Amino acid sequence: MSGDRLEQYGSSTAEVARRAGVHRDTLLRWLRHGLVLEPSRNRHGWRTFSEEEARAIISFAKSPSETSARIMTIREAEPPPYATTLNDIDWDFQGAKTNYLTHRIHPYPAKFIPQIPNALIQELSSVGDTVGDIFCGSGTTLVEALTLKRNAVGIDANPLACLISKSKTTMLEDADIEILQALTAKSRAFGDSILASEEEGDLFPPGRFVSSAWRPSYDKLTFWFDAHVIEELAEALQWCRALPSEAARDLALTSLSSIIVAVSRQDSDTRYVRREKNIPQGETMRRFSRTLEQATNAAVEFTDIAESRFQRHIIEANLLDAPQVPPLDLVVCSPPYPNAYSYHLYHQTRMIWMGMDQPKFKREEIGSHRKYSSPGKNGATAETFRGEFASIFQWLARHLKRNGHACFVVGNSTLKGKTYNNADILSEASRAAGFREAMRIARTIQSTKKAFNPVIGKIKQEQILVLQNADGAR
Ligand SMILES: C[S@@+](CC[C@H](N)C(=O)[O-])C[C@H]1O[C@@H](n2cnc3c(N)ncnc32)[C@H](O)[C@@H]1O
Repeated sequence: MSGDRLEQYGSSTAEVARRAGVHRDTLLRWLRHGLVLEPSRNRHGWRTFSEEEARAIISFAKSPSETSARIMTIREAEPPPYATTLNDIDWDFQGAKTNYLTHRIHPYPAKFIPQIPNALIQELSSVGDTVGDIFCGSGTTLVEALTLKRNAVGIDANPLACLISKSKTTMLEDADIEILQALTAKSRAFGDSILASEEEGDLFPPGRFVSSAWRPSYDKLTFWFDAHVIEELAEALQWCRALPSEAARDLALTSLSSIIVAVSRQDSDTRYVRREKNIPQGETMRRFSRTLEQATNAAVEFTDIAESRFQRHIIEANLLDAPQVPPLDLVVCSPPYPNAYSYHLYHQTRMIWMGMDQPKFKREEIGSHRKYSSPGKNGATAETFRGEFASIFQWLARHLKRNGHACFVVGNSTLKGKTYNNADILSEASRAAGFREAMRIARTIQSTKKAFNPVIGKIKQEQILVLQNADGAR
């Protein structure tokens, strides 16, 4: 078949195996073990490999020593006792409900679906254990760990991630609920009164806003926000900060942060371009009120299920600084990886309103598109990523119990036109720190998910890499 036809229609498994010089069963085994990428399927459900995918397999087949070493590892190692259970799970979780409990609080691009940490925690830890997510983001693993009666430890360099994670795992007291309900009512009444105001252009009569003295010091504030939106956000922020309990304050601030992109001129959470939205006066307050009410209800549901005897720690830290953390029995995370997402950029306006140190996080963020698209010798490469994880695994080996598991849910990266298998990179980097790869599972990301940079293309496949801390010190 000519290259053009391959490009148009894709190749079958048998064709690609023949071109790679291996038996079809060998290729199927490589796919099963996640050693090569799963292609998409045609309308009959058969695999169709693009020319790029076919070439990647042919080149994989051409590195015999590496290939056979990997296959040997997989063949020789005893399958772990949990392999059958984990292999029996349909990891695609198509159609599964993902916004239960506090999972529905605050958007967080590229968060994983709760079913993934849930299954891993149930299989690889016991009640009372401590489960860590070393890149906790919006706290998905932490919510699942706590509701499964485990202690939870979350680490993230993004202060916004830490705020969201805290809010999603807070148990509210009755007094907190009353405070939050009062703020919901106050902001709704305030928003309605602005909306009903007949005095067009007289939104800011003396005495209406208490917050007029405070604004974030950001020179592009009026570029990203309408004047009346700035007034309403500043007012709501002042109210949140003045709340008397930490739990209520965190949840109110998280609710306010969650509406900031929607009321700004930023197109969306994953598009950093300016777009007029014509937000009506009063709408920011009303939206805040609705979001706060929903968040409070979600936190009440979480409080009803969680038990206070299980602790949670949220640590704001750069993992490359080797932070101090409590001892961990299991780690479940979805790490940042090259080019997948730039949280410092897309969260910029939120972080500025919350008074967070955005430039510091920008310097620390692993995998950001900014670092990997930077030209010349300062640009990051796959080696940068490998080196960062080599040091993270050295640190993790000291904090995870001996023979404890660390699960990484990770997709591939495309850098300067070349595809990198990040699960391979992580697996290799972990070996020097005494980890061994226990198993690998390939899964398909739901096609509706728009979490990734559209320039890089939708990532359809990811792998769940299960590592074991074979030489752990603990
Ligand atoms: C894919 S997200 C994790 C999402 C999470 N699983 C969830 O469900 O919300 C990766 C996280 O890594 C964090 N991160 C990036 N660089 C980091 C660093 N140097 N130290 C700690 N965390 C970092 C980012 O802030 C981001 O929250």
